[in-house]
Amino acid sequence: MRTILVGFMACGKTSVSTELSDKLSIEVADMDKIILERSNRDSITDIFKLDGESEFRKLETLVLEELLKRDNIIISTGGGVIKEKCNRELIKESDSKVIFLEATFDVLKKRTEGAVDRPLFQDLEKAKELFDERQNLYLEVATKVINTNNIDLEEVVSLI
Ligand code: S3P
Repeated sequence: MRTILVGFMACGKTSVSTELSDKLSIEVADMDKIILERSNRDSITDIFKLDGESEFRKLETLVLEELLKRDNIIISTGGGVIKEKCNRELIKESDSKVIFLEATFDVLKKRTEGAVDRPLFQDLEKAKELFDERQNLYLEVATKVINTNNIDLEEVVSLI
């Protein structure tokens, strides 16, 4: 079984995948962590600043392709993984359980307070545009949508 968590920045992909991994004793692969380890940078912000977003997206596709070859894994994606059409095709063809963790922009904004390593959430107006553009793309790849606005972590995990 392969489970992929998708959704906008701060929707809870990392915490839900960690909790689910504990519950099912299945390994979790955090795409941002792997990308960062493979870059020679100290943060995602530095990759964006020093190498550019396109370099980040190239690494993201490579890591996605690699992880989709594996079974018995939970993949926690970055919020922009659905931006590239090729990534969406890869996800749809992978025969995985794809969970879209949905929340309103206002809820996500509150959840990002204090977080620093999110270059695309620094400008709220631009982040809202991205949020609007991406909702249909998450829905395009999802096999299940979970609204996380008013429920806690354990409840989300129990719905997967
Ligand atoms: C991004 C989301 C981030 C990270 C990068 C780009 C995006 O991951 O991959 O900053 O384009 O939405 P999280 O969704 O885990 O914050």
